[in-house]
Amino acid sequence: MVKPKTIFVCDACGSDTPKWEGRCPACGAWNSLAEVKLQTYKGGRSPSWIGAAPAEAIELSHVTMDRADRLRVSSQEVNRAFGGGIVPGSLTLIAGDPGIGKSTLLLRIASDAAAHGGTTLYVSGEESAAQVRMRADRMSISGDGLFLLGATQLDEVLGHLDKRRPSVAVVDSVQTLYDNSVSSEPGSVAQTSECTRKLLEWAKSTGISVLLSGHVTKGGQIAGPRLLEHMVDVVLYMEGETVGSYRLLRTVKNRFGSTNEIGVFEMTSEGLRDVLDPSTAFLADRRPDAVGSVIVSAMEGSRPLLVEVQALTAPTALPTPRRVATGVDHSRLLLVCAVLSRRVGLPLSNQDVLVNVAGGLRVGEPAVDLGIALAIVSSFRDEGLGPDLAAVGEVGLSGEVRAVPQLERRIGEVARLGLGRCLVPETPGGADGAGSLRTIGVGSLTKALSVSLGPLSRRARREAGLISA
Ligand code: TYD
Ligand code: MG
Repeated sequence: MVKPKTIFVCDACGSDTPKWEGRCPACGAWNSLAEVKLQTYKGGRSPSWIGAAPAEAIELSHVTMDRADRLRVSSQEVNRAFGGGIVPGSLTLIAGDPGIGKSTLLLRIASDAAAHGGTTLYVSGEESAAQVRMRADRMSISGDGLFLLGATQLDEVLGHLDKRRPSVAVVDSVQTLYDNSVSSEPGSVAQTSECTRKLLEWAKSTGISVLLSGHVTKGGQIAGPRLLEHMVDVVLYMEGETVGSYRLLRTVKNRFGSTNEIGVFEMTSEGLRDVLDPSTAFLADRRPDAVGSVIVSAMEGSRPLLVEVQALTAPTALPTPRRVATGVDHSRLLLVCAVLSRRVGLPLSNQDVLVNVAGGLRVGEPAVDLGIALAIVSSFRDEGLGPDLAAVGEVGLSGEVRAVPQLERRIGEVARLGLGRCLVPETPGGADGAGSLRTIGVGSLTKALSVSLGPLSRRARREAGLISA
């Protein structure tokens, strides 16, 4: 038997308390508790989708599996991000900034699922059917078997889902849904978590996969501190600069596959297009004689990607010079600048330093340090590093170049793109080259600079203020 129970959920931190209070006991926010009526199962019975019969332990080898196949869509990059396709009965959250392309991606998946002989129900709480149709026309989607529903009230949505029993259901977005049993506004933590919980239960009980889109808040979180991420089976983040054309679909959580996956897309006038060879795409616009530019072999999950790191140094007009990082960690840039000043003697204290990863990509790992350093020095000295040089390595505080994970795969990607030289951290045996690629082990930043740019001439050093006239 079901008895309703009331709890109070904080909109600021997502914690709950049994009784209403003016102030959240967990995070101290005032007036943030919203009432949520929960359906609990008397006697601590499991949720309906686990089974109504009393639980019994089963030997793992005797567990029967539904061998229903994963749904594979036409985009290889989407299948890759899902770990090989969408598992039936799973709940997926696709999160990202507004305007990044979540609705575009969901519409593509919905139409593919419909084209596989099933039907899909696309619930849109943000756009009218005509607006979705306009997008579908741009993407050349015929729309057979794809049903649209403009609804935001959860019971109504669940009613339509039950009636139609599609092969895949899409809810765009979870923040527009509301449940009458929750007193707070749509989009609040209490509402989105309760709606997600009910959709999860529906997906598990029917075996139909449900895809949700969710906006990321200013703090980079989806509707409260990771609350939804705990509930759903798969979390995919869509990233990229909205001005640039590349989009990454990053697997942040996957109960049915690896989280080391990433899909790469290009936003075109006809929707999202797979980028099957991202390294070539990211380097396409690189000028061979570019100054302040170097190629870095970065790992995105299990996938090596070559990206162009650019730097520009310019005399500052401000008392404190600026350090601007786009696509790399600001703290890594500060570290590299400090090491260049102290260990290499590069006078950056009166220089603004701007670093950018071309193509709107974000590289968060320390393996990009050496590339940042080389690009800065190249710009400062106004000397190019050459078109065929790549670099990987973490820079330590004493100016040493430190080892990075998965060096071989990174080198392999550099060789595949036909580059000639790659600076790598020094290893005892020395790193192997690959094909015509020469790998050069460098133990320190000074060594890396001397093999790539050569020593600074006396005149240049004088002009740079490194030695007195
Ligand atoms: P959208 O999917 O609506 O983003 P979200 O649902 O994440 O808010 O996509 C928004 C952007 O994508 C919009 O600025 C226009 C662009 N876009 C294209 O460039 N080409 C296309 O074919 C489509 C459908 C959208
Ligand atoms: Mg949208």
